[in-house]
Amino acid sequence: MQKTTNKRGAFIAFEGIDGSGKSTQITLLKQRLQREGIKCYTTCEPTDSPIGSLIHQIMTGRVLSDNKVIAALFVADRLDHLLNPTNGIYAKIMDGTSVISDRYYFSSYAYHSVDMPMDWVIDANSQSAEILRPSVTIFVDVNPDNALKRIAKTRFHPELFETRERLVSVREKYFEAFEKLKDVENVLIVDGEKEEHILEAEIWEKIKAYFAH
Ligand code: TYD
Repeated sequence: MQKTTNKRGAFIAFEGIDGSGKSTQITLLKQRLQREGIKCYTTCEPTDSPIGSLIHQIMTGRVLSDNKVIAALFVADRLDHLLNPTNGIYAKIMDGTSVISDRYYFSSYAYHSVDMPMDWVIDANSQSAEILRPSVTIFVDVNPDNALKRIAKTRFHPELFETRERLVSVREKYFEAFEKLKDVENVLIVDGEKEEHILEAEIWEKIKAYFAH
């Protein structure tokens, strides 16, 4: 693929278990970039494309499907997120816009490898990794019990007990994926238990160099 300018935007992927508070950090980083005059675009996975909508329908139980199918749909959703001719993030980054994504392929590595081999999930996502690796993946780490408390405060959640086990194993899978890919991926693990503005300042100090032109 052709670069349209030599000033590439940065690509920041936020990761974390549900209830980690990453959305707050994304909002704060976006505000910081706006104050600094850095052009940025925030987005998320699953996307709101037709593929993303199908994923949402499966995840909310309106459409029934196997976990392997969901994992494959996330692969397709991610490629569309990158390459869609209307709002694909690859073209934005090549044009000099920095992109912040709420979740990217490490979510697949962590969430789907609970049910299937992680290597399968990594291989299935290899095209996305070839097209666009994050400048940095920021993992907002929280204790699953505290994540559950946050989820309970903000959302209706009928199966809290089952969810705890899932959060614990997804968090472990994230760490397994970071270890497995430590030679090729740039991962920043931050303490999501910190006060949100203190954490925002700490993240900014560590990533601001990626936005230097
Ligand atoms: P959503 O409520 O949209 O976002 P969040 O929890 O980040 O606020 O739910 C996204 C869910 O999708 C979340 O539980 C993680 C899951 N997920 C996967 O299972 N695989 C993936 O590849 C991605 C990107 C997300």
